[in-house]
This record gives sequence, structure tokens and C-alpha cells, in this order.
Amino acid sequence: MKILLLGGGGREHAFAWKMKQSPLCEQLFIAPGNAGTASFGTNVPLHPNDFEAVGAFALKEQIEMLVVGPEEPLVLGIYDYFKAHGQLKDIHVIGPSKKGAQLEGSKVFAKKFMMERDIPTAAYAEFTQDTLEDGLAYIRQHTTPIVLKADGLAAGKGVVICQTAEEAQDEFRAMLSGKFGEASARVVVEEFLDGIEFSVFVITNGKQYKILPVAKDYKRIGEGDTGLNTGGMGSVSPVPFVDENLMRKVENWIISPTLTGLQEIDAPYVGFIFFGLIKVGNSPFVIEYNCRMGDPETEVVLPRLQSDLVELMLAADKSTLDEEHLIEDPRFAATLILVSGGYPETYEKGKTITGLDGVEGSIAFHAGTKLEDGLVKTNGGRVIALTSYGMDIRSAVDTSLENAEKVQYEGKYYRKDIGFDL
Ligand code: AMP
Ligand code: GLY
Repeated sequence: MKILLLGGGGREHAFAWKMKQSPLCEQLFIAPGNAGTASFGTNVPLHPNDFEAVGAFALKEQIEMLVVGPEEPLVLGIYDYFKAHGQLKDIHVIGPSKKGAQLEGSKVFAKKFMMERDIPTAAYAEFTQDTLEDGLAYIRQHTTPIVLKADGLAAGKGVVICQTAEEAQDEFRAMLSGKFGEASARVVVEEFLDGIEFSVFVITNGKQYKILPVAKDYKRIGEGDTGLNTGGMGSVSPVPFVDENLMRKVENWIISPTLTGLQEIDAPYVGFIFFGLIKVGNSPFVIEYNCRMGDPETEVVLPRLQSDLVELMLAADKSTLDEEHLIEDPRFAATLILVSGGYPETYEKGKTITGLDGVEGSIAFHAGTKLEDGLVKTNGGRVIALTSYGMDIRSAVDTSLENAEKVQYEGKYYRKDIGFDL
């Protein structure tokens, strides 16, 4: 099968690495890809949001499966574009419809969806510029901390946790005045949940589903979970505190009603659902939905998946997922993200990366890299994900830490405490 994978981060390198192991994958293209994905297929300089160009390429190369890595093309409706197009409609699209992608594309949509189905999530209210005064009053009488969320996609920056009502009111005004553009024209004000977070992923066709290995990611830039939020500084799988009892609640209270809900609203959904969850006491709550796999969770989830990913994705689209057996590697996996100095604020690109050849016992997934004049150079905030296996989290992390010393570029930074709280 000829497959086109959209995206160019660590998640997509992990997808390319995993898909290329499948006998079903005859040829792989990655758009735009990075210096790492180039080892598993052909990088194509297309923007994933340019549907016409993606569609034209798919026709020219007789692509049979389109795998969509990032959320933006999904929220913008790439699935619907393919399905409405006479010559593209038979291509297997792995990614939900625009309607299904609203689970991630609109916090207001997701909160309503959950409330209507009693899916456990934080209590909330939503406001616009027209209801600004009501919102300020709502915040004044709210317990602290208070969580504010821009409704739309804001590149992972749209959530602000405020410690005082004053801070929340200032942030609330800023959001409604366009701090995140259109994305914050509507704002969700939400109760703060105190607990420990974890990520659950399913591959689904909207009815049947299989649960992928559970993971936990580390979002803050600083050790001890301090400082600014990032796209993710590392992750581990499995997660020791997520036991069978908790997973039963996740399935019954969250996964099943979510799928039933997608059917009720007639939202075609073949692809991945990422449940961003928090354990409060002994109960799971939904912090957020994503309509795609997580990054850097994918860099530990796929290495722990022994089953054939292409076969699973095909089975999802053919509604034969129930016949598939998902096999997990019993070992732990951990990934450390090496980032550019200054990230998640301003940072420089184009630094030459050396030492990748010396990496031993870890997989080096590229995130923000590019090939230039035969050299691998930094090309983003998150640069390399070093994934290792171990019989426990500590030994997996230790192997990645040893290799993190070997990879060199100006301004390299990484957290040394990933997984140490578990
Ligand atoms: P999100 O972009 O929705 O994943 O939110 C980013 C991060 O903000 C989450 O991973 C949580 O750490 C935190 N967060 C979001 N909503 C809440 C909440 N209601 N209570 C506590 N923390 C939250
Ligand atoms: N790891 C969080 C995300 O992919 O959004």
C-alpha cells in the first residue's frame, strides 16, 4: 500500500518508523517530514493544510491511505475534503471528520458534549465579549485557582491557570480582546481539578475501538514540573498508578459514552482519540480531548505497540477492529525531549546537530530537525526525542539520559527528572 503521512514532528517520525515495519506499507511519503522521517520514506514539501496540493499529490502518486498526524488539517476538514472529492473519496483517511475533530477544535463544543452525556469533567461556564460582565462576576465568586481556556486552537497556549480572581479577570479580558485571535472570541472558565494527569489513546472507527498503551507526559519546561508549559518535555509508558480498576472507569465513564456521543451527532470518526485525563481521588476526569495522537506520547506508545499499526488503521477504516489483537511490549518506555535553548519562548534554529551516530540503546526520533547541506540542523523548539526501553521507568530514563549527553548542538536543554515522580 502507498501511504501519505501528514506532519513533521517527533510524532510523525515515530509513525513513519512504526508504519515502515509493516509488510502492508510498500511506499511511504511524509509531508513535510523532517530529517528523521527521510530514513523511512520520501519527504514531500507540502503543507498539511493545503488540501488541494495534498489531494493532487495523492492522486499523482496513487496514494491508498492518508494518515493525518497533527490536529490542524483535521479541524479544518481534510477528511471531508477527501470524502467529497470524486477521485479521492476511496482513499483510507485516518483522521476524523471536521465534526468529530471539534472534540479538539472547540473547547465549548467538547464541554457541552461531555456535560450532555455525564462524562466526568470540570464544571465550567462559557462567555463572549457580549457576556463579559457576567464572566467577570462569575470569576469573582469562583473558587481559586481558576482555569481559563480559549475556545479554539491556540498552538497549545490557550489554557491559563490563574491563582487569583484578579489575575483571572485580567487574563479573561485579554483573551476576549483577541489575545489568541479568533480562538479566544469565546472563553471557557473552568474549575481547577487537583490530581495527577495521564493520557489514554484509542484507535477507533467511531464504534469499535482498541486501547493503545497508556502514557504520561511532562508538559512544563522545568524540573519538578515548574515553569512554562511546553508541547511536552518527555513521556513514559505504562503509567504505574493507572490500574485495571481506573481503566475500567475510563472505559465505562469516558470512552464508551464518547463514542456513543459521536454516533449520536453523526460525526464520522476513523482515527485516534487522545483522552487527556486527570485522576482525582480514584476517579478519572477529562481535561481535554484531542483528535489525534499526542506528542511526545506517541514516541513511547508506538514503541510499546507490538501489533502492526498499518493493519490496525486499515481495520479501523474497514470496521474490522474487533477482529484485531493488540499486543503490548511488557517493557517500560521513556522518552526525553531535547529542546532548543530559550524554548518555549524565543529560540534560534539552524544549529548543527552532532553525535546522533553515537546514540546506543535508544531510538532517536527527530522532532524539529532538517537536512541542510548534508548536515542535520535544528529546526524547531523540540528537536530530538530519545526513547528507550527498560524493565522499569528509571532504567529506561537512564538510558535516554546517557544518550542525551552524546547528542550535541548549541543551546541544548532537557529535563533530567522525567518519570521520577512515579
Ligand atoms: P489543555 O491544553 O486543555 O491540555 O490544558 C493544558 C494543561 O492545563 C493540562 O495538561 C493541565 O495540566 C492543565 N489543565 C487544564 N484544565 C485543567 C483543569 N480543569 N484543572 C487542572 N488543570 C488543568
Ligand atoms: N502531549 C500533548 C499533546 O500532544 O497535545
